[in-house]
This record gives sequence, C-alpha cells and structure tokens, in this order.
Amino acid sequence: MSVLQTWLVQALFIFLITGSIGVLLDPCGRINPESPVVQLGSNFTAVCVLKERCMDYFHVNANFIVWKMGHFTIPKEQYTIINRTAASVTLTDVTSLNIQLTCNILTFGQIEQNVYGITLISGLPPEKPKNLNCIVNEGKKMMCYWDPGRETYLETNFTLKSEWATEKFADCKTKRDTPTSCTVDYSPVYFVNMEVWVEAANALGKVTSDHINFDPVDKVKPNTPRNLSVSNSEELSSILKLTWINSNIKNVIRLKYDIQYRTKGASTWSQIPPEDTASTRSSFTVQDLKPFTEYVFRIRCMKEDGKGFWSDWSEEASGITYEDNIASF
Ligand SMILES: *[C@@H]1O[C@H](CO)[C@@H](O)[C@H](O)[C@H]1NC(C)=O
Ligand SMILES: *[C@@H]1O[C@H](CO)[C@@H](O)[C@H](O)[C@H]1NC(C)=O
Ligand SMILES: *[C@@H]1O[C@H](CO)[C@@H](O)[C@H](O)[C@H]1NC(C)=O
Ligand SMILES: *[C@@H]1O[C@H](CO)[C@@H](O)[C@H](O)[C@H]1NC(C)=O
Repeated sequence: MSVLQTWLVQALFIFLITGSIGVLLDPCGRINPESPVVQLGSNFTAVCVLKERCMDYFHVNANFIVWKMGHFTIPKEQYTIINRTAASVTLTDVTSLNIQLTCNILTFGQIEQNVYGITLISGLPPEKPKNLNCIVNEGKKMMCYWDPGRETYLETNFTLKSEWATEKFADCKTKRDTPTSCTVDYSPVYFVNMEVWVEAANALGKVTSDHINFDPVDKVKPNTPRNLSVSNSEELSSILKLTWINSNIKNVIRLKYDIQYRTKGASTWSQIPPEDTASTRSSFTVQDLKPFTEYVFRIRCMKEDGKGFWSDWSEEASGITYEDNIASF
C-alpha cells in the first residue's frame, strides 16, 4: 500500500465510526442548497450529490440515497433520481420552522451511513409596515414607530429612512429588542418638510412602508408645565388662580392647555372649556367654585393648532377656596 492509500483507508475508517453531521472532515457528498430559508407553506427541493470516491468505496449510487428529517425516514415517493450521483427530495407544504434534513446511503446491505446534513429554516417574508408615525419629545431626538405586521419567524431588519430637501439622513437601524421603533441620531430640525419611511427586510424579501411627509414641529410632545400652584382670593370665594411655568418649547411654538379639576375626594375630573385655554399663557383663574372647598388641579399642554401630542399631565396641585362672606348668610 502506498502512503496515500493507507491514509485514504484510515480516513474512511474514521469516517465510518464518526458518521454524524458536522463531524465529518471530508463528507461523502453534499446537499444543495446548503443553508436554505424557505417560505412556510411552500414546497422545497434539495439535491444530494455523492462523491465518486465514496460511491466506489461503498459500491453505491444515487439509488442508495435515503433522506431523513430528524429520525424520520422520508418515503421514496418524494425522491427523484437525477443521475448516477445525485438524487433530490421534495418536501411539500413546509410547516416546521426548523428541519434537520440529512442525506444518507445504505451501505453494505443495510447500514445507514450519514453523508451530509443541512438545517432548513422557514418563515415568512415581511409585511409592509403600517401606521408609521413619529414623535419629537421636547429636548430629545425624533422617534418613529410603526406596526410591523405579522410574525415572520425570521430575523427581520427594520430600517428607518429620513430626508428633507437638502439632506439625506443616516439610516436608523432598529435594535433587536425594539423592532417597531427607532430613534434617529440627529437633533430635530423644525420648519422643514421631512420625508420618512421604513424598510423591512429578511431572507425572504424586502418591503417598504408608505412614505410620510411632515414638519417635525407638528410632531412635538412638549414637556409638562412645571410648578403648578393654586392660590385663593379673599375677595371672591368662588375662584382659584392657577399659575405654572411653561416648558422652553413656548419659544418655538404657541401652546394650548387642558386643565382638569375635581374636589378632593371626588374620583372624576371636570374640564375647563378648551376655548378658554387655547393660547399660550402661564396662569388661569378658575371660576364658579364652591366656597371653602378643596380642589385638585392638573394641567397639560400641546401645540396650539392641535398637531403633535399632549404633554404628560403635570403633578397635581390643590388649593382651598376662601370662606364665604359672612354677610351673605
Ligand atoms: C407543492 O406540491 C404539491 C404536490 O406536488 C402541489 O400540488 C402544490 O401545488 C405545490 N405547492 C406550491 C406552492 O407550489
Ligand atoms: C448529476 O446531477 C447533479 C445535480 O444536478 C450535478 O451536479 C452532477 O454534475 C451530475 N453528475 C453527472 C455525472 O452528470
Ligand atoms: C440584518 O442586519 C444585520 C446587521 O446589520 C445584517 O448582518 C443582516 O445580514 C441583516 N439581515 C437581513 C436579512 O437583511
Ligand atoms: C419649581 O419647582 C422646583 C421643584 O419643586 C423648584 O426647585 C423651583 O425653584 C421652582 N421654580 C420656581 C420658579 O418657582
């Protein structure tokens, strides 16, 4: 025996005793495709091509190929012999997300010898992302969010694209744990027409949402009015005066307010008519209250024209109306 022949026999011996997926250094054949991703519900065909060296050694050809899914042997009716070295198998209506598919040969009568194995991954192409919208929390960067559609069972990347007339911004790639929103890494620009859309991509396809156009100033959520305080009036027992500090956004946009109040202990809020608080201000006098009664107030604000988002509610503040004038008894 030559050195080469000795080596070959040893290699084949090792191959015989370690015949399992992934261990073989020099497999007896190959499966094509190597790492398939298929759509759930579709049909899938794989081809196993044997090596001449192996066929000679084991005295086999493509007719000896046995396909297995895990430990389950796939029936012969699903095989097609392509030529002397190759046979295919067709899986119909793939419904498992993860299938171990192996090509094996029946050697020396009935010994099943593994030739090659692949993992078949299945899932769905992404659906068109819907309901794309963006929010600019005051003092923060713009965040856009969307509805990603059905589960794909596959790694699916969402990329937010944005641009305006003179600038195309860097892609915003979602983090794995928040695939339905992305916070851009540039500071907000106001009074421009911005165009934004989102792309969803996985191994089975790529799809783009509708594009939306807006001025980021119309997506602002102001910071909450601060330091809400309540003072009463000795002269009028039916009023309380509220004062607060507006957030800095008042230098950029005009604001309107939503003021709610209730007597202490009551569970439902009453609302000040919106038309009374429809422009930027930092105080408001609430009228028609009951004397010597404790009231609780809260306030929030948003852009005057109603575009964008309400701020969070302020902390509650309370005050007690003055005692009624004794003379009125
Ligand atoms: C899958 O194969 C079956 C049987 O050959 C056939 O009836 C069916 O139409 C195929 N399905 C697709 C999606 O090609
Ligand atoms: C047999 O078919 C396979 C798969 O189509 C191909 O790669 C291979 O070259 C063919 N072999 C011969 C001897 O025709
Ligand atoms: C998803 O993004 C990652 C990281 O950028 C990339 O490696 C991967 O190929 C992408 N997958 C798809 C299906 O686009
Ligand atoms: C507003 O409230 C904060 C915290 O309670 C306080 O530190 C600050 O001095 C107040 N500002 C004014 C102008 O009253």
